[in-house]
Amino acid sequence: MYDTKKIFRYQHLVDEIEQKIMNGIYKPGEKLPSIRKLHKQSNLSISTIYHAYVELESMGLVEARPKSGYYVNPVVLQKLKIPQFKKISFPPKRVRLSSMVNSVIAAISNPYLLPLGSTVTDSELLPVKYFSRILKNLSHSELKSMISYSLSEGYPELRRQITLRAVGVLKGVAPEDIIITNGCMEAVALAMLAVARPGDTIAIETPTNFGFLQLLQELGLLVMEVPTDPRYGVDLDELEKIFRQNRIKACLLVPNFHNPLGALMPDDHKNRLAQLINEYEIPLVEDDISAELHFGGQHPLPLKAFDHQGLIVTCSSFSKTLAPGLRIGWVIPGKRFKEKIQNLKAATTVSTSTLDQYLVEQYLAGGAYERHLRQLRNVLKKQVVRTALAIQKHFPPETRLAIPNGGTLLWVQLPPQVDGLKVYQNALDHRIAIIPGGVCSNSGQFKNFIQVSCGAPYTAKVENGIATLGRIISKLSGK
Ligand SMILES: Cc1ncc(COP(=O)(O)O)c(C=O)c1O
Repeated sequence: MYDTKKIFRYQHLVDEIEQKIMNGIYKPGEKLPSIRKLHKQSNLSISTIYHAYVELESMGLVEARPKSGYYVNPVVLQKLKIPQFKKISFPPKRVRLSSMVNSVIAAISNPYLLPLGSTVTDSELLPVKYFSRILKNLSHSELKSMISYSLSEGYPELRRQITLRAVGVLKGVAPEDIIITNGCMEAVALAMLAVARPGDTIAIETPTNFGFLQLLQELGLLVMEVPTDPRYGVDLDELEKIFRQNRIKACLLVPNFHNPLGALMPDDHKNRLAQLINEYEIPLVEDDISAELHFGGQHPLPLKAFDHQGLIVTCSSFSKTLAPGLRIGWVIPGKRFKEKIQNLKAATTVSTSTLDQYLVEQYLAGGAYERHLRQLRNVLKKQVVRTALAIQKHFPPETRLAIPNGGTLLWVQLPPQVDGLKVYQNALDHRIAIIPGGVCSNSGQFKNFIQVSCGAPYTAKVENGIATLGRIISKLSGK
């Protein structure tokens, strides 16, 4: 049994010291109070304090010096500046993907490369053993029903489990309000088909997930790229201006832990965004795939929680938390779009794999998900912080990045003269995959950006990979 009170106390101390380091109250290289001293001045036990210091060390924020004590890491994140965010909007434009995209997709799915470009969580961190147990225990008759089609809208028990997870996050959702899809991308594709027709204009964030650009290109849609802040998400003043001046048919946004920025839209912005959507009656498709990967104590609310008119369609999946290859996602369409999306699902893929739905349902029903998520968030947060520290140590000093409060992605701004595409090509020669920033825009922006993923365990190989990227970038910057 865990002593939850003790975990709570040590985590509290970790959070407090982490905040003090991030805010510059503890300076780089400064000694932390000795364990004995802190024990005397607080009512915390020696083991709680020791546990907290070890945790801070594993996050890379402090270092233990033999016979001397714990010191703040001389390289700390407070010196990092957030990427510059330019308020430039572009006229509607048909999506034309960069010819590099196919090469990037091949690189980030190549298992022989260092996976700094992958946008999903490494399988090392996923509950493989648990799935293996469920599969082994499948009886002949269960398997027989698993090789039949499931209902087009999905396996009822899985829809019920997803409903249970929405308690406290999204009020009034019933199993019938959920349609199971082949991952989040099918959910987004069905939603876009329901809200727009070829030739329509869609408002998207810039930068955006390049997978969205691929989809919007194939759907024959035009996009308007709306400037997006690395901390707060899409710029609402710009979005309102765009709504006033253009015929926008729908929006496609990622308010929680945006890909690639990592931005988390605050609740007051979400509220205003929902009001804008209602005022202009423009449907909005939100991709909420990373919401469970928050590093704070609280699950961020989906935009749909602020919707009173049924104009917001929420899409998500278990790809980042459980198993990307099982392809289990869902869409919560709301009354306006439910029938259309249900018909589209039946007419395109008929239904989602019954066995894969069963596996995920059994996993959720087994009760291990919450604990898995707690561990996963903790590990991912450490990986994000350690990767950001390594970038700060090895990349040129003009490098900028914002540390996200959830997810696995870092959006890195390089010195202006450095071409992210060249960094990508040079990195491939060293068997490292990253994403060049240019593929995340339809208007040729973000040439001096790269996206670095922290979804794989932070090992010496990853640290060396970041150091190699640092050398490539320094060389390209001419310094
Ligand atoms: C924002 C976003 N949406 C969708 C996807 C794809 O999700 P899925 O594998 O569930 O289709 C990803 C994958 O990384 C993503 O980052």
